[in-house]
Amino acid sequence: MTALNDTSSLLSFLKSRKSASAKAMAGPGPSKAELDEMLAIATRIPDHGKLAPWRFVIFEGEARAKVGESFKARWAELNPAHGAETLNFVARMFERAPTIVAVVSTASVHPKIPVWEQQLSAAAVAFNLVLAAQAMGYDAQWMTDWVAYDAGALKIMGVAENEKVAGLIYIGHASAPLEDRPRPDVAGLVKYWS
Ligand SMILES: Cc1cc2nc3c(=O)[nH]c(=O)nc-3n(C[C@H](O)[C@H](O)[C@H](O)COP(=O)(O)O)c2cc1C
Repeated sequence: MTALNDTSSLLSFLKSRKSASAKAMAGPGPSKAELDEMLAIATRIPDHGKLAPWRFVIFEGEARAKVGESFKARWAELNPAHGAETLNFVARMFERAPTIVAVVSTASVHPKIPVWEQQLSAAAVAFNLVLAAQAMGYDAQWMTDWVAYDAGALKIMGVAENEKVAGLIYIGHASAPLEDRPRPDVAGLVKYWS
């Protein structure tokens, strides 16, 4: 492993980084080259069996409004009593950030590698993508929301029945100062076995 020349700035980044909120995110988003770099970093994660059991679906530009219209129709089908305000929110969900990356877990039964471990690897991809975006000066938030769980919405996004959405990573620039959240008391989570 190559030693870091600047350990202190990496540690201070890791100790202080926090997510933005998709509710207050704006452009500009990453360029194609920057996004390619983020995705390359995202896939540099532990992967038992080297199965690469994940893939990405990217929503940018006009695709965000287009997918939003389909989400809206699906939401109306599921919740016929909901009014225009909710439907408009659903239609514009993916327009809250310039770039949204769906990290899709493609885990499947394998003779040696449990599905759980393959899914954990997808979670590692999702978080490494958040870290890469933040390290490159963007804000990001790992979301799921109903679209990650509803069969109709998954179909709209092109996610197959045997796949799962590990995360929808919203990437952009925070339009309001980031607020930190209370962090867990680590000491209370640790037990030295004896
Ligand atoms: C799998 C997963 C799904 C999440 N889905 C949502 C979501 O749908 N909506 C939401 O507000 N936060 C969601 N979060 C939490 C956000 O990522 C939140 O901003 C995070 O707790 C703050 O993270 P930070 O430690 O990076 O500041 C999710 C987190 C994870 C790990």
